Amino acid sequence: MKKFVGGLVLSLICLAQGGGERAVRGAEGDKPAKPPEKGVMQQKLESCQKLLEALAVNDLPKASDKAQDLIILSQKAEWKVIPTPRYKELSNEFRAAAENVVEQAKNKNSDGAALAYLDISMLCFKCHKHVREVRMTRK
Ligand code: HEC
Repeated sequence: MKKFVGGLVLSLICLAQGGGERAVRGAEGDKPAKPPEKGVMQQKLESCQKLLEALAVNDLPKASDKAQDLIILSQKAEWKVIPTPRYKELSNEFRAAAENVVEQAKNKNSDGAALAYLDISMLCFKCHKHVREVRMTRK
C-alpha cells in the first residue's frame, strides 16, 4: 500500500510536468525570440518519464541509466536557453539531484532514489517558473 501511494504521487508529478510545459510555452506568447529547443527538452521529458517508470517497479539499474541520460542532457549547449545565473544554478541543482539518483541506485537504496526523484521534479517546477518569470519581464 505504501508503495502504491508512493507510485501514485510520482505519477502525478510527471503528469503535472505536462501542464508545466504548456505554461512555459504559453509565456512565450507570439515572440519567437529563438527557435524552440525541442530536441533536448523533449528527450528530458521522456527520460524523466522512464525514470519514474523504473523507480515505480524498483528497477534501480534502469533508473540509474535514465538519471544518467538526464545528466548528459543537462550538459548540452541546447539546455542553456536562459542566460541568467539562477538558470545555471537550477541546472546545477538538477544535475546534482540526478547524480543522487545514480548514487542511491548504486547503493540499492530505492527510497533514497525515490526521494532524489522528487528533488528532480521540484526542480522541473522551479526552473519552468523561473523561465516564465524571465520571459514575462522581458516583454
Ligand atoms: C534548469 C531549467 C530546467 C529544468 C530543471 C527543467 N526544464 Fe523543462 N524546460 C526548460 C526550458 C528553458 C524549456 C524551453 C521552454 C521554451 O523554449 O518554451 C523547457 C521545456 C520543457 C518542455 C517542453 C518541451 C517542448 O518541446 O516544448 C517539457 C515537456 C519540459 N521542459 C519538461 C521538463 C521536465 C519533465 C523536467 C524535470 C525532469 C524539466 N523540464 C526540468 C528548462 C528546464
